[in-house]
Amino acid sequence: MSVFVILPAAGIGTRMASTGAAPKQFLTLKGIPLLLHSLRAFLAVPRVTAIYVAVRTSERARVAALIAEHNLGEKVHVVTGGDSRQDSVSRALAALPSTAENDIVLVHDAVRPLIDPTTIGRTIDSIQKHGAAIVGTPAIDTIKQVERTADGALITATIPRELIVHAQTPQGARVPLMRQAFSEAAADEFIGTDEASLLERAGIPVFVVQGHARNFKVTQPGDLEIAEFYLAG
Ligand code: C5P
Repeated sequence: MSVFVILPAAGIGTRMASTGAAPKQFLTLKGIPLLLHSLRAFLAVPRVTAIYVAVRTSERARVAALIAEHNLGEKVHVVTGGDSRQDSVSRALAALPSTAENDIVLVHDAVRPLIDPTTIGRTIDSIQKHGAAIVGTPAIDTIKQVERTADGALITATIPRELIVHAQTPQGARVPLMRQAFSEAAADEFIGTDEASLLERAGIPVFVVQGHARNFKVTQPGDLEIAEFYLAG
């Protein structure tokens, strides 16, 4: 069984761009780009066969240099991403070598630098057992459903929080299941914000592996300080 990893890293980081900062996958945490933190976590898992990093064309050389500079070896490949996260993952999926029925693909946001090898291992185990799985954390706050109004939002329901999970990454499946989910989404022109939403709509059961708050997505100004706090702890 091979385990392939896709790291979508072709975003432009619009929410962070207000600060004039680089695309967030290249921001540094403890002097190291976020992308590199994520790569190292997956390289620390011996079951990982190869990693495909999807980047913008203009950043291919920069990422190739980063990989060479940090001696990341032959497991890491660079592919060109697309206009949406889903498009970037789809292009990387197409770049995977021909795979066996039980091979696994994991997708991890490059901008979640604090993923740990143990959680990655548990996700692989769950996919081996169930076919598809993601990392998620239970809801802590009470969850409200709202209707948008001119003044903001009006509560329409309270959703029992034990039924709510915050979806993180990695998210993965056996390769044929992931390919099926992506091709059905493309046929229907469905764009999702994660892989699970594509798997779900293809009728593929997706299990949840317990994650940790520290595996958050660096998204807005201030998030780097939170990541540094977690690293210090
Ligand atoms: O934009 P969002 O926060 O959902 O991005 C999650 C991940 O997807 C980031 O690592 C980002 O670089 C990546 N992405 C991508 N291609 C895009 C947009 C986002 O690979 N076109």
